[in-house]
Amino acid sequence: MIKETCKVLSQKKVAPGHFVLTLESQKISKSAQPGQFVQILCADSMDPLLPRPFSFLDTDSKKFSVLYHVVGKGTQTLSKLKKGETLSVLGPCGNGFSYDPFSPRKQVSLIGGGVGIPPLYHFAKQLLRQKVRAKNIHIFQGARDKSLLLYEKEFKRLGVWVSVATDNGSRGDKGFVTDLFHEDLQHGGADKVQIFTCGPTAMMKAVLTLAQGYGIPCQVSVEVPMACGFGACLGCAVKVREEGCEPRFAIACTEGPVFLASELVWD
Ligand code: FES
Repeated sequence: MIKETCKVLSQKKVAPGHFVLTLESQKISKSAQPGQFVQILCADSMDPLLPRPFSFLDTDSKKFSVLYHVVGKGTQTLSKLKKGETLSVLGPCGNGFSYDPFSPRKQVSLIGGGVGIPPLYHFAKQLLRQKVRAKNIHIFQGARDKSLLLYEKEFKRLGVWVSVATDNGSRGDKGFVTDLFHEDLQHGGADKVQIFTCGPTAMMKAVLTLAQGYGIPCQVSVEVPMACGFGACLGCAVKVREEGCEPRFAIACTEGPVFLASELVWD
């Protein structure tokens, strides 16, 4: 994990209340993996005091981007930053998604919503670089409304399959994205799929139920509050159970944020 002072290269509004912030980085960006995150101190002052976690949206050797939703003082401060200003960043933190290229399950289903979309976009790009065929990658994306379908166009530009559902039917199917995914499974191919998911807890629980029901391997990137990002505050514990063991609390910022769905205990 590296501490780096990063310069703002750009800041762009991509949806109501959502921004993509691109930061110059010589070190962090080089080793960032999809699913990992950075801790960004949103202001130089003591207010807000604690850094905030943000998943990588995109990286190259000299810069990385994060996509965030303005939900409080920290992200509001972040949204006011201009090109050339600097930020203190710690990362890459945690683990990332892992894809087994030798698995007979060649189809990758990415299921996400809200600010769970950035790590899935980053992952889709990495899979394409690893020569996974675009036609074998399918993003199922859900949102309340079409204006909140983050990075839908960018996914389409990658050439991957894109299926969307919105609560109000303003784009794609009306209803839950997990229903859309379920329909896809009912049309066959469950034995060829591996699942990666990130988004609202209710959505991920529904994905987990489907994964268990169809016996599909599933990796989940959990979203929990993170104060330190390196295992010191113990504020990000999630309950897990490894096979044959009693449940225990895992530290999401160091042992996660990506877990096997089969390990997570959702109370
Ligand atoms: Fe502090 Fe995980 S955020 S231990």
